[in-house]
Amino acid sequence: MSLDLGLACIRVSFDCCDPYIDEDMIEKIKTRKSLPNDVASIEKLYWDAFPDEDLLPLVRELQREGPSVISLVGIADKALVGHVVFTTCSIVGRTDKVALLGPLAVAPAWQRQGIGSAIVRVGLRGLENADTNQVYVLGDPAYYRRFGFEPDDCVTPPYHLPEEWRGAWQSLNLRSDKPPLYGKFSVPQPWRKQALWAP
Ligand SMILES: CC(C)(COP(=O)(O)OP(=O)(O)OC[C@H]1O[C@@H](n2cnc3c(N)ncnc32)[C@H](O)[C@@H]1OP(=O)(O)O)[C@@H](O)C(=O)NCCC(=O)NCCS
Repeated sequence: MSLDLGLACIRVSFDCCDPYIDEDMIEKIKTRKSLPNDVASIEKLYWDAFPDEDLLPLVRELQREGPSVISLVGIADKALVGHVVFTTCSIVGRTDKVALLGPLAVAPAWQRQGIGSAIVRVGLRGLENADTNQVYVLGDPAYYRRFGFEPDDCVTPPYHLPEEWRGAWQSLNLRSDKPPLYGKFSVPQPWRKQALWAP
């Protein structure tokens, strides 16, 4: 599996002072931080992309968290077709800058066209520019390994994961000059719900 074809037409620029804006693009998608008037479109996106899972309470709470949360949207054909959130978190007793990726959603009609990958990569590049050390995600390794995420046994997720999900807790080191992190992952209030960490 490869995303190269999907990304070939997507050029991401970080020349501007806000690393989360990708203005230069695009034949296909523009990535920018979400705005207050994106709320309705973002909520519809989650209804459509996750018909069996109600992530809206989490998404709404995260939008209220302020600058510790980076909320990016992907725009194609003037429509909001993708959304991803990165939350600033911590490792208990440490000062390293770490973030949690998720949730991530792409409108069904736009899936498998490189949009999820594009907005995630813009977010990761912005975090890297902001000296974030490591990014964590709980998700399907088949999807997240394309960004370089690998299963992480060194940092314990905030809630116990079922055995079959162990490989789903992954991390990406954005600072190769820094040693691996060890400890317990600590999340802000919106993520402190066991149900978000269980099947
Ligand atoms: C998962 C999701 C965010 C991916 O975004 P996308 O824009 O469709 O994905 P991209 O075009 O960037 O990447 C497509 C690749 O991802 C793979 N992929 C898509 N959804 C996947 C999933 N749920 N699990 C694993 N791989 C997935 C495709 O097989 C494709 O692989 P290929 O490039 O090797 O052919 C999007 O499909 C989505 O919102 N799905 C519904 C909600 C969901 O399942 N979310 C889970 C997030 S972990």
